[in-house]
Amino acid sequence: MLEAEALLGGHMDLGLKGKVAIVAASSKGMGKAAAMGLAAEGARVTMLARGETDLGNAAQEVRERWRAEVLAVPADVTRYDDVKRVVRETVARWGTVNILVSNAGGPPPGVFDDMDDARWQSAFELNLLSTVRLVREVLPHMRRAGGGAIINLQSISVKTPVDNLILSNSIRSGVIGLAKSLSLELAKDRIRVNNVLPGLIMTDRQRQMLTVWGQRLGKSFEETKRLREAEVPLGRIGDPEDVAGMIVFLASDRARYITGVTVQVDGGLVRSIM
Ligand SMILES: NC(=O)c1ccc[n+]([C@@H]2O[C@H](COP(=O)([O-])OP(=O)(O)OC[C@H]3O[C@@H](n4cnc5c(N)ncnc54)[C@H](OP(=O)(O)O)[C@@H]3O)[C@@H](O)[C@H]2O)c1
Repeated sequence: MLEAEALLGGHMDLGLKGKVAIVAASSKGMGKAAAMGLAAEGARVTMLARGETDLGNAAQEVRERWRAEVLAVPADVTRYDDVKRVVRETVARWGTVNILVSNAGGPPPGVFDDMDDARWQSAFELNLLSTVRLVREVLPHMRRAGGGAIINLQSISVKTPVDNLILSNSIRSGVIGLAKSLSLELAKDRIRVNNVLPGLIMTDRQRQMLTVWGQRLGKSFEETKRLREAEVPLGRIGDPEDVAGMIVFLASDRARYITGVTVQVDGGLVRSIM
């Protein structure tokens, strides 16, 4: 099997050279891998996250790995002023926005009885309203550029509820509805809108989830990981690069006739036929 890194920087021209991409929540995990993947194809990338140090390091890594043009903007996607600033600084630097990868941290775990209104409101702001605002801010630039690609990173929880994640199971479906409506409304502007649903992907977030699961089951991290891997038909927890590959493809001209779709990248975990 290819090393995860080798999946980046392939030989098929994806038409991404010089394109301007904003990748939200990209100092770690799948956001960072998506920024790497787009940079590997020659895109200019704005990376953002709240923690400045991790963001600065991640941006530097992408720059050095691909001699890429990278702008790092510390920002919280739940703050509208931050979202506006990210888009403003991107356009000030490169003149436009061609690609948006909408991403954020995951909402906290828990069941219905754990959640008061404040938690529901925060999950709405983190995972749905952030997407609305990012899209609103990039739209004028994509329209002026004559097209664009929007990719929402969500979760397989929109296809099959994940235990103990009621906020994700509920709020993320709204993004899928939003994206489908947008794909119809924006098709005339040649702006494509698609969703990517990760299954089990080894990131900080997944390490935390495995730790919590392990504690509930009274098992070690390694044992819990093996149990989860056994649930995945392809037999392993995915790498962030596995998800980035789909994001890069959907952002590219190779996907120019694809809009309004929702694709899981989950090693076969979701059992539904559609
Ligand atoms: N890993 C999985 O198996 C899996 C599966 C399905 C869905 N997902 C979802 O996919 C998304 C990405 O997950 P991941 O596993 O790649 O996470 P991760 O490795 O924990 O990285 C999360 C990234 O998001 C940034 N971030 C978090 N909250 C933010 C905010 N309010 N504003 C801006 N940036 C923010 C973090 O940086 P700062 O904290 O410094 O801001 C970090 O760069 C999450 O929504 C997660 O729930 C993950």
